[in-house]
Amino acid sequence: MSASLRLAALLGSTLLTATPVLAQTTNNAPQAATRPTDGPQARPWMDRALDADARTELVLKEMTLDEKLQLTFGYFSTKADWQRTPIKNYEPPKDGLPDSAGYVPGIPRLGIPGQWQTDAGLGVATQRSPTPRLRTSLPSGIATAATWNPEVAQAGGAMIGREAFLSGFNVQLAGGMNLMREPRGGRNFEYGGEDPLLAGIITGHEIKGIQSQHVVSTMKHYAFNGQETNRFNIDHRIDEAAARQSDLLAFEFAVETGDPGSVMCAYNRVNGFYACENDWLLNRTLKKDWGYKGYVMSDWGATHSTTQAANAGLDQQSGWAFDRSAYFADALREAVNNGYVPEARATDMARRILWAMFKNGLFDTPVAGDRATTIDYAAHAAITRTDAEEGIVLLKNSAGLLPLAATTKSILLIGAHADIGVLSGGGSSQVYPHGGPVNGLAVADEYPGGFPGPKLYHPSSPMKALQARSRAQITYLDGKNVKATAAAARKADIVIVFGEQWTGESIDAPNLNLPDNQDALIDAVARANRKTVVVLETGGPVLMPWLGKVGAVLEAWYSGTSGGDAIARVLTGEVNPSGHLPATFPASLAQLPRPVIEGDPKLDRDSHPMGNYNIEGAAVGYKWFDKTGARPLFPFGYGLSYTGFTLGGLTAQPSGKGVQARFTITNTGKVRGKGLAQLYVAGAGWEAPKRLGGFAKVDLAPGETRTMDVTVDPRLLATFDSQTRGWKIAGGTYQLLLANSATDIVARTSVQVAGATLDNRGR
Ligand code: BGC
Repeated sequence: MSASLRLAALLGSTLLTATPVLAQTTNNAPQAATRPTDGPQARPWMDRALDADARTELVLKEMTLDEKLQLTFGYFSTKADWQRTPIKNYEPPKDGLPDSAGYVPGIPRLGIPGQWQTDAGLGVATQRSPTPRLRTSLPSGIATAATWNPEVAQAGGAMIGREAFLSGFNVQLAGGMNLMREPRGGRNFEYGGEDPLLAGIITGHEIKGIQSQHVVSTMKHYAFNGQETNRFNIDHRIDEAAARQSDLLAFEFAVETGDPGSVMCAYNRVNGFYACENDWLLNRTLKKDWGYKGYVMSDWGATHSTTQAANAGLDQQSGWAFDRSAYFADALREAVNNGYVPEARATDMARRILWAMFKNGLFDTPVAGDRATTIDYAAHAAITRTDAEEGIVLLKNSAGLLPLAATTKSILLIGAHADIGVLSGGGSSQVYPHGGPVNGLAVADEYPGGFPGPKLYHPSSPMKALQARSRAQITYLDGKNVKATAAAARKADIVIVFGEQWTGESIDAPNLNLPDNQDALIDAVARANRKTVVVLETGGPVLMPWLGKVGAVLEAWYSGTSGGDAIARVLTGEVNPSGHLPATFPASLAQLPRPVIEGDPKLDRDSHPMGNYNIEGAAVGYKWFDKTGARPLFPFGYGLSYTGFTLGGLTAQPSGKGVQARFTITNTGKVRGKGLAQLYVAGAGWEAPKRLGGFAKVDLAPGETRTMDVTVDPRLLATFDSQTRGWKIAGGTYQLLLANSATDIVARTSVQVAGATLDNRGR
C-alpha cells in the first residue's frame, strides 16, 4: 500500500496508545522438569498417530500463559515509514518475511512453528515494494466462481497454496467470499459472486486446495464486508434470519466444504458491533452454531478492544501496527490477570490456533524458508490458464462471429494494453507476475493514487497469443484517438476491443460504466465495423450501452498470469467457452437495492454511518431481481457456448430432509463442450421466489447425453428461525426448476416435502 495512505485511511488523525511489545516467551513451563528432554517422549504432541485435538491438548499442557498469549498477537511484516511514529516506533520482527502481510513468532522451546502469513486468494501477493515476489496469479475469484467448477477451484487453491509454501508461508489469507450485494464493490473481483451456494462451494474448494499444501487458509471477511466505502466504520444492519439465509449461509457452506483453519473478521460493524468484537457473529454463529474449531484472526486494523474482542470470540489480533493499540499483547495479559478475560478463554484462543496448525500439517511439514526457485511455473501456468478459460463467459455471439474464422485476413485489437497483457485487480491481493520485469510492472503504473495501485497488467499478451494461432494480420491501437481508431476499424475484417474496468481494495467503482470514454470508443468502433467483438476485463458487472451494436461479447474478468492465452484460445475456438455469470449484470443502477452507495467516503473512522442490508435482506442479486420483477442486462447463471445443450427428463423426490433431482443434459451441437445445468427451488414465504438449489457441469462430446443427480441441501428449502435458532422447512409442495440461467427455466417439476425442524447446522 502507499503505506502512509493506508495508515491515514485506517487511523484518521487520532493515534492513541500502544507500545509495540513482543509478547515475552518465558521458559518456566511447570512440567518441563519432569518431561524427558529428548527422545519421542520429549514432545508427545509430535506423534503423528494422534489426532489434532489430542496433540493440541498435549502441547497446551506445557505452555505458560505468556506463551499462549504470544500466539494471539500478529505483526505486520512489511517495513514502512508510517510505522515509525513516535508512539509506535514500529519495526517489523526480523524473522518475518519481507513485504508480506504478517508474522506470529513461534515458540522454539516447544517446537511450535512461527506463522508466516501471506495474502491472498489469487496467489502469493506482495505488499507494495520495488522488488516484489514474482508468482503465478489465478484469475479473479469471481472468474473462478464463473467456472461453476469446484474441481477447478480446488486445483487453483492447491497451486497457490504450493507457491505460498515454497515461498516460506504457512498461512494464506485466502478464501475471500463476501456476497456481492454491491456491484460497484471494489473487491468483488476477489469474491465468489452473489449466491450463497455457489460462493460457498467454490470458495470452500479453493480453501481445501490451499490446505492440502500444509498451509492454513483464512476465509474472509466475516461478515457483511460488502462495500469499500467506509469499510472501517460502516454499520451494516441485517436481521438474523436474513443474515443466516444469505452471506452467513455462504460462509457456512464454505466452512463445511473447506474447513478453513482460520476465519478473518471484517473491518465493518454489523448490527451495532465491530465484526471483530461481535459475539453474535463469532461466538454464537461461527463457533457455537457451526461448531467451528479453528481461530478467528482480525483484519489488519480491525481490532478495537482487548476485553470485548477477546470475550466476543476474536482469537488473534493481526498486523500490528495497523490497530490503534496493541490490544492483545500486554493488555490481554493484564485483562487475564485481573479477571476481565477468563484464563480459560486465553487457553481457548491458543487451542484454536494450535489445532488449526496441527490439523493442516504446520508441525509435521514445516515451511523451510524461501524455495521459490523450485516452483514449477510451467505447470502452474497451465492450472491458472484452465481456470481463466473456464471462467470466461460468452455473453453475445451474433451470426457466429466467434470463434474467429480461420480465413480472417486482418484483425484490429484495441485498448487495455492488449498488445502487452491482461489487467489485474488492485490492493492487498495483488500478485506480481512471474515472467515479467523485476518490479512486476509490464506496463508503467497508470494509477497516481498509491494504494490500491499499482494498476498492474500481467504480461500475458492476448495479441501475441492470437498471433501464435492465426494467419491474420494482427495490429494494435490504444484507442485513445477515437476517430482514427474507428477509421482503422472500418478497414479490418474483425475488430476486437478490450474494455477494462480497474477496481481495487478500499475504493468502490463510482458507477458501472467503463471508465475513460471507453463506451464511446466501443460505440464508434462498432458503428464503423459490425464485426466487432468486445472482450471485457472487469472486476464485476458493467453496463453495456453499445451491446446492440457489437457482434460478440466475452466477459474475461481479470484473467491472471495466463489470461492472454486463455482469451486467445476462447476467441479462436481452441477452447469452447463454458463460464456462466456468478452475479447478475443489472441494466441500470436504478434496479439495485441501493442506487446510491450508502456512507460517504469523506467520513472519518469514528463516524458510523448505517448500511441498511434489510432493504434486500436475503434477497441478494437475482433474488432481488426476481422479487422486484426487474429485467437485468444479463441474468445470474447466463453464459453461451459454441455448441448447444438441452436439459430434460427432470424428476425429483424427497431425500433425507432435502430433495434429490435427476435430469439429463445433452450436447446438441457440433463441438465438444461443457454444459451447466442449474437447479433452482421455489417455495413459499421465502425472501424471494426462488433459490439456487444445486448445479452440475459436465463435459460432453457432440450428441452425448449424461444423466445427473443433484441433491438440494435442506437449508435451501428452509427459513432460519431466530427464536429457536434453527431451520424450519414448511411442509408442502416445492417446485424444482431446471434452468440455463436464473431467467431461462426449461423444465419444472414439483415435490411434496414434509415439514421439518432442523438444528442450527441444518441437520
Ligand atoms: C485486507 C485483507 C488483507 C490484509 C493483509 C487488509 O487491508 O482487507 O484482506 O488480508 O489487509 O494485507
